[in-house]
Amino acid sequence: MQEQIKKINTLEKLQALYTATFGKNGTMTARLKQMRDMDNDARAALNRENAELRELFKTRQAEIENAVMMAALKGEKLDPSLNPMPENRGTLHPVTQSLREISAILESFGYSLRTGPEIEDDWHNFTALNTPAHHPARDMQDTFFLPNGNVMRTQTSAIQIRSMEKEGVPIKIFGIGSTYRKEMDATHAPQFRQIEGLYVDKNITMSDLIGDIRAFLSAFFEMDNVELRIRPSYFPFTDPSIEVDMKWHGGKWLEIMGAGMVHPNVLRNCNIDPDKYQGFAFGFGWDRLAMLKYGLDDIREFSASDVRWLKNSGF
Ligand code: DAH
Repeated sequence: MQEQIKKINTLEKLQALYTATFGKNGTMTARLKQMRDMDNDARAALNRENAELRELFKTRQAEIENAVMMAALKGEKLDPSLNPMPENRGTLHPVTQSLREISAILESFGYSLRTGPEIEDDWHNFTALNTPAHHPARDMQDTFFLPNGNVMRTQTSAIQIRSMEKEGVPIKIFGIGSTYRKEMDATHAPQFRQIEGLYVDKNITMSDLIGDIRAFLSAFFEMDNVELRIRPSYFPFTDPSIEVDMKWHGGKWLEIMGAGMVHPNVLRNCNIDPDKYQGFAFGFGWDRLAMLKYGLDDIREFSASDVRWLKNSGF
């Protein structure tokens, strides 16, 4: 048997012998059935023979397979003139691409990226931002509360507080991240992204703020000089507060972002003396800006993971 196996040189013949040996009506199968009537020595010998035979089949199979492959390789030639298979390449998600583009613009203005946790405590998300408990401005944001009193970050403004607490002044940073609110329709998603800017130093004024906003929007929308309209507004963490509208194609005014001079209480909450330092902050929704730039009308597309959309979204 051993010799017979070694002489076989095709997989078909090997398979046939294997079946004749170990198959339902195989010779070894028949012998194994009689094991009950054997004494211990005979039983052990049969077990050994059975194992050795199986091993032999396995080894021979590998040898034949190898020989077949080597023969095929010898006969084959590489034809470099054939067209390659079409390649389906992955890319970064449009959201990631756009956030990186925004980071690059702000970094070129001297802002450095900072991040913060998406589960925030009350202090960083509200209280330190001059929005203590029972402040009516808390109603401006439909907050997801967690059972332990923490919240899903409703605004990246929390990153301002964390950065000033940790780094002090002067400081020129921007934060990017997901924010959460209980709302859902074509223009509001429960998870969306905000960009936040903060610049605190000596002698920073509102015109520095407007200059940076104008430069940022011009770069992001690839326009020579965007036309802005500055309206008075209210945010608890800035005073004065403004809202910025931008003139869009066709002459329509669009509300783009909130901003203002950092409220003295906010500086004090971060152990910064508002008589020596002042600065500005601004915040805007990334999704809204991206929808405008790329002409999209449903914010939910950003999270839908539809490959056809990802490939054709214009990003
Ligand atoms: N946090 C505000 C919001 O979510 C946006 C904002 C407005 C941020 C004014 C700012 C700011 O830093 O100065 O609606």
